[in-house]
Amino acid sequence: MQILGIDIGGSGIKGAPVEIDTGELVTDRFRIPTPDPSKPEAVADVVKEIVKNFQWKGPIGCTFPAIVRRGVVESAANVDDSWIGTDGQKLIQKKTKCPTILLNDADAAGIAEMEFGAGRGNDGVVIMLTLGTGIGTAIFNKGVLLPNTELGHLEIRGKDAEMRASDRIRQEKDLDWDNWGERVNEYVQRVEYLFSPDLFIIGGGVSKKADKFLPHIKPVHAQIVPAQLLNDAGIVGAAMAASALAS
Ligand code: BGC
Repeated sequence: MQILGIDIGGSGIKGAPVEIDTGELVTDRFRIPTPDPSKPEAVADVVKEIVKNFQWKGPIGCTFPAIVRRGVVESAANVDDSWIGTDGQKLIQKKTKCPTILLNDADAAGIAEMEFGAGRGNDGVVIMLTLGTGIGTAIFNKGVLLPNTELGHLEIRGKDAEMRASDRIRQEKDLDWDNWGERVNEYVQRVEYLFSPDLFIIGGGVSKKADKFLPHIKPVHAQIVPAQLLNDAGIVGAAMAASALAS
């Protein structure tokens, strides 16, 4: 079965049909820059463009970089504030005329990694961290997701953790890998102290450069590995989450 997965991010909105049984993208991804300001109508119009590009008629799964409960967006750290309280799922469904599931981006990435990537077969506690514009988190116990954990906003040294250790901050402050690696290490150790996971999976675009910063990250007990699906995890996880709409 194929489902269209769409990943709504702070800088780009990208999508591709996904073969649900293998987690593979059926075609190349199609990407459109995120509108600025990233207001609900404008973002939903871009999603519609992506759906049109693939001439898609079936269900779609969409990620969103915020808390999403039953389709309603409840936070907006890296998108326009007018999203708060918006039923994004309903809005996208109305625009595209496709049955839609909207879920948090890190949750989607985690779902994909647990099924097809670095978390495959792990039946302990797994924490997926996505390091990008913000820090996204997804927690699994015995393969079951606890949705909408927002551990990117833990306070570290009096600051929101994602304002110290996200990949955006690495770039903005021009931190070298050692320096940034130390910041991520402090963050990972804090999360480990609070949740005692068996495994951390580090995702987000920067996970391609894992060899540069992973050596600095030393959880006390947990194992730590880079994500395997890299930039596709959100698209794949979103499509998987929407597969229930097709059955
Ligand atoms: C948001 C999360 C999101 C993460 C990654 C954070 O700022 O609060 O909901 O998962 O960024 O995009």
